[in-house]
Amino acid sequence: MTARIIDGKEVASKVHEEVAAGVAEFKSKYDKVPGLTVVLVGDDPASHSYVKGKERACERVGIATETIRKDASISQEELVEIIQGLNNDPAVSGILVQLPLPKHLDEDAVIHAIDPMKDVDGLHPENAGLLMLGQPRFAPATPLGVQRMLVEQNVDMNGAQVVIVGRSKLVGMPLTALLLQKGVGANSTVTVCHTGTKDMAAETRRADVLIAAAGFPGAVTPDMVKPGAVVIDVGVSRVEDSTRKRGYRLTGDVEFEGASEVASAITPVPGGVGPMTISMLLVNVLQAANIAASN
Ligand SMILES: NC(=O)c1ccc[n+]([C@@H]2O[C@H](COP(=O)([O-])OP(=O)(O)OC[C@H]3O[C@@H](n4cnc5c(N)ncnc54)[C@H](OP(=O)(O)O)[C@@H]3O)[C@@H](O)[C@H]2O)c1
Repeated sequence: MTARIIDGKEVASKVHEEVAAGVAEFKSKYDKVPGLTVVLVGDDPASHSYVKGKERACERVGIATETIRKDASISQEELVEIIQGLNNDPAVSGILVQLPLPKHLDEDAVIHAIDPMKDVDGLHPENAGLLMLGQPRFAPATPLGVQRMLVEQNVDMNGAQVVIVGRSKLVGMPLTALLLQKGVGANSTVTVCHTGTKDMAAETRRADVLIAAAGFPGAVTPDMVKPGAVVIDVGVSRVEDSTRKRGYRLTGDVEFEGASEVASAITPVPGGVGPMTISMLLVNVLQAANIAASN
């Protein structure tokens, strides 16, 4: 079997068009545009590149965007003060603190300082709790992107055996909560694997939909994929590659070539989940603006 390649850019561009239309409607209704402020601390090259991608995407759909760049030496108090200022700024619909933060900062306390109604990353405990209770407000963008991709591919998630490798608060855990909900693109039977899982391959081989979010290349090998499964690769790792000008290339968690021979559909890295993450962030920003404007 040679798997169909799921084109994340194509689905993302559809979402961008929808958001652009939503932003235009918002503008005509309220005579202002939604705004996203990103807080970027330190000089991690990957974070800088992600933030650039977010800025460009906002500009494309008409969302106002600003990035507050701060030195890695910023104190916890100063960072929280910045967030409080953004909480009180009516021009800011959504706040995103680019993670990871430098080690001396308390990431949880920083996230908790964000107004939950502006928490477009969906990481504030209020939003995480609402998602777990089946009343989602803002879910994290990557899990939302995975779900939207599956819906766009007409994958029947109702009753599907889904196996997620990874239980992080950013990906595995919220994705589990999303796919467990009753409703379109969900109502699945979800198994979550992690470092405590005894026989991961036995779990993944049962999956109609296998989602890899472990964070290292080769986490999912072809023998771990059930023939005909849909494979979604969330992982992004940099591996050295002297043939590339920048000296590295991006790769996912799944051994792509081999898994493509077993799966019925698979996402590439790059060009799969990555573009979806950015587009679903835009959806969250527009939603935050609409909620704030209607209150
Ligand atoms: N494309 C995108 O837009 C996007 C967005 C977010 C993240 N990512 C990528 O997705 C990957 C995961 O990100 P994350 O933030 O969720 O990472 P994370 O916080 O490091 O979580 C990794 C998860 O994988 C599990 N895991 C690690 N090694 C394992 C193994 N050998 N067997 C079974 N489980 C294992 C860990 O289990 P324990 O809990 O037991 O430690 C943990 O739950 C990374 O490559 C990241 O770059 C991509």
